[in-house]
Amino acid sequence: MPDAAVLQNKKDTIKIVVLGAAGGIGQSLSLLIKSQLYYMVKTEKRLHLALYDINKDAIAGVVADMSHIDTPITISAHYSDSQDPNESLKACLTDASIVLIPAGVPRKPGMTRDDLFKINAGIVTQLTDSIIEYCDLKKLFILLISNPINSLIPVILNRFKNSNVVDSNIEKRLFGITTLDSTRGAIFLKDMLNDLKISSGLQLMEMPHVPVIGGHSGDTIIPVFSQCSAADNLSQDQISHLIHRIQYGGDEIVMAKKGKGSATLSMAHSSFKMLIKFIDLLLGNSNDITITSYISLTTLDDNEIATGGKELMSRINNLKYFAIPTVVSIDGIKEIKFKIIDYLNYNEFNELLPICLENLNSNIITGESFPK
Ligand code: NAI
Repeated sequence: MPDAAVLQNKKDTIKIVVLGAAGGIGQSLSLLIKSQLYYMVKTEKRLHLALYDINKDAIAGVVADMSHIDTPITISAHYSDSQDPNESLKACLTDASIVLIPAGVPRKPGMTRDDLFKINAGIVTQLTDSIIEYCDLKKLFILLISNPINSLIPVILNRFKNSNVVDSNIEKRLFGITTLDSTRGAIFLKDMLNDLKISSGLQLMEMPHVPVIGGHSGDTIIPVFSQCSAADNLSQDQISHLIHRIQYGGDEIVMAKKGKGSATLSMAHSSFKMLIKFIDLLLGNSNDITITSYISLTTLDDNEIATGGKELMSRINNLKYFAIPTVVSIDGIKEIKFKIIDYLNYNEFNELLPICLENLNSNIITGESFPK
């Protein structure tokens, strides 16, 4: 394995870590990184992919298979060794630039994302402890995939706070990936426009962008069709249908897979789209990126939360976490630009937002009540 070479050149290496890499999302995402990232970003730097999973047999096989893919991205396998379980995480996490976490249990039919909470909170807590121990938190980006995102981001942040490492400003570089909701928004809308032959102003091969804010489960998800001109010619009923389908789109996959997991391929695609932006930032190809993800609001200062964030927090009684478009620099969240009051229409503001806030708040309390 090429670990030694990477460590010799750590200054010139972007090390991407996937924790839970042998799972459905972990494998597909790692494949996209190994096979496609090289074509997506311009770089003189070395890119290294470090894959960790507690499933030793699976991860060894995945990495052996992927090591035959002909791109210059180097790759290493890390798994818990019963003799010293921490050694593998140490080797995996040391010098990491960005850590993606899809480790956890997925939903089965009839389960909500909240049903996963206890078990996945335990897993992310354990992994956060290793991140605290082995990573340089002042430079690290963390992207959480495991559900329920709404509650697990508070669990992770509390763990950091409890370890007295918040002065690393890690809270500005901790993101819950909600991209799948806008990915679904785009394809569900495009399909509806095509099926009903409704004019949209889009070219044949052009995709719409549906902003999605709030949280990442059920009715905490707020698709903002008022900010999507491609949907201008849809009726309110058609919009309502799309909103519901985006909010509960995950259930379609859980049912279709008949108890064998939840979204993996579409999620790998969605997190890869997000990852490309972060890699451009880490490589210095972009000074700022604009992303939508689930973030902590309370730890941002006045400057960073700018007008959009300030207005959001006051309107929502000191809401602590929310998914919203933000500008991110190499130091982390720089600014929230999205203004709820200006951008949401009557229905979004008066119907979707209050339900979202009530449920999101309860999800956040669940996360904050998890033993620290
Ligand atoms: P999976 O069960 O296929 O994979 C999970 C992997 O995590 C397994 O390989 C398992 O061995 C590993 N794992 C478990 N405990 C671990 C630990 N302590 N350390 C390292 N690895 C560990 O599940 P799948 O389908 O890949 O989903 C993963 C998570 O992503 C689930 O929580 C799921 O709900 C969530 N998810 C999130 C989405 C989002 O939009 N953010 C969309 C779809 C799923």
